Amino acid sequence: MPDLPLPKSAFIDPTGANRADVEALFAQTTAVLLDFLTSAAQYSPLPKVTTMLPVTLPENPLAESALLSFVQTLLRSSMNPAHPGYIGHMDSLPTVVSILGDLLAAGMNNNMLSVEMSPMLSQLEPQLLAQIAQLFGLGDRSGGLLVSGGSLANLQALAVARNVKLQVLKQGLSQRSQPPVLFASELAHTSIQKAAMILGLGTEAVIPVATNANAQMSLESLQAEIEQAIAAGQQPFAIVATAGTTVTGNIDPLPQIAAIAQQHQLWLHVDAAYGGALIFSPEHRHRLSGIEQADSVTFNPQKWLYVAKTCVMVLFRQFGLLQSHFKVAAPYMAEDSQWPNLGELSVQGTRHADILKLWLSLQHIGKQGYAKIIQQNYQITTYLVEQLKQQTYLQFASQPEMNIVCFRGIPDWIDEADWDAWNTHLQQHLLREFDLFVSLPSYRGQRWLKVVLLNPYTDESVIDQLCKGIATFARGT
Ligand SMILES: Cc1ncc(COP(=O)(O)O)c(C=O)c1O
Repeated sequence: MPDLPLPKSAFIDPTGANRADVEALFAQTTAVLLDFLTSAAQYSPLPKVTTMLPVTLPENPLAESALLSFVQTLLRSSMNPAHPGYIGHMDSLPTVVSILGDLLAAGMNNNMLSVEMSPMLSQLEPQLLAQIAQLFGLGDRSGGLLVSGGSLANLQALAVARNVKLQVLKQGLSQRSQPPVLFASELAHTSIQKAAMILGLGTEAVIPVATNANAQMSLESLQAEIEQAIAAGQQPFAIVATAGTTVTGNIDPLPQIAAIAQQHQLWLHVDAAYGGALIFSPEHRHRLSGIEQADSVTFNPQKWLYVAKTCVMVLFRQFGLLQSHFKVAAPYMAEDSQWPNLGELSVQGTRHADILKLWLSLQHIGKQGYAKIIQQNYQITTYLVEQLKQQTYLQFASQPEMNIVCFRGIPDWIDEADWDAWNTHLQQHLLREFDLFVSLPSYRGQRWLKVVLLNPYTDESVIDQLCKGIATFARGT
């Protein structure tokens, strides 16, 4: 390397000249990370940020020892999903190989835009995703690609749906007299509205469909909304069903929604960002029945498959539609005769090699390993639900269908107007006194407590602590 005033380990010398310096930095960083992760249970699941990292841009290199000390501060002030008491969101502790997968991906720094720029990984991605699409039952012509998050997956699916159903790939929407609309449950993720806005339809193009007491889309309302939209001169083109609602983890009635989509020739997208993992569970796979009729599916392995963020896929029943109804070729890219340049088929061009940590996790844990984790999650959820049901001052938001339990206190010794505050104080009490982080979503206009039982180290003793924390708080009010 030319004689530049840089730290010895600024880059890795491809002739191995600075291997010892780099190895030392790797070893120290790994030690700091493992020191933290192997004692994560001792720290808060959600610590307060008390000191901030320096944000000034230094003129000269900082000593590596100083950088490592900042990293330690960072780790101790960050969300701690490895803690067995971190049970508030759909954020899992990552598989070990997905941590290593991200390290490898960064080291390789391939570009998932094109086959030329990531020759092996760009073949691995379509092959692995085609297999996963088969597990969803999407058929022989199915396939998919990885994107950075569930919101982007929903956007990509609805972009293809719009282009296919409305034939607007080239001309856009300006020629249309009938406003296009789509239908999603009132509890669908907000990314559906974002997608409609970005696609030039406007957020109001997402017609909210009423839900039943179990947070599932009402079929009668869906039919009525479609008929009303047609009568009003709008053009329905898609239905979005959810398999694993964000707050309560419930599943829309997929077979019946698929039948309605077929009746009206609408695109069916299933947002299975959370629930998609159930394809790996022989015991619970049936809950996704009907998903095999979807035209597209969103699935986030970064949630229930424990792959480090980000790792999200969008799958299509007919993968070829991406070629005909989405692709914009990059003329600076070489074409491969066998494999597509996935960056030409997706919203993103340059893409991170998320496929590596997904592939490593699936190889390392295996289908049966995931099935066992999911089964254990269901057992611990049942244990929690049984305990909570014994308290008459607690109310469930819905019947849990996954490892998500959403409930709230409705203590009759407190004025109803103060129930939201009571639940907010209970959440703070659990974090402060018991190192338990449950989240506090707003749902149907009220504050609820949400528990997501993802962490395999969250055992019955944690649930016992949670119930004790709730009981002690209730007694004191
Ligand atoms: C059902 C559902 N869809 C989509 C998303 C959006 O995913 P992301 O935050 O990765 O964009 C979420 C996030 O929790 C979700 O629960």
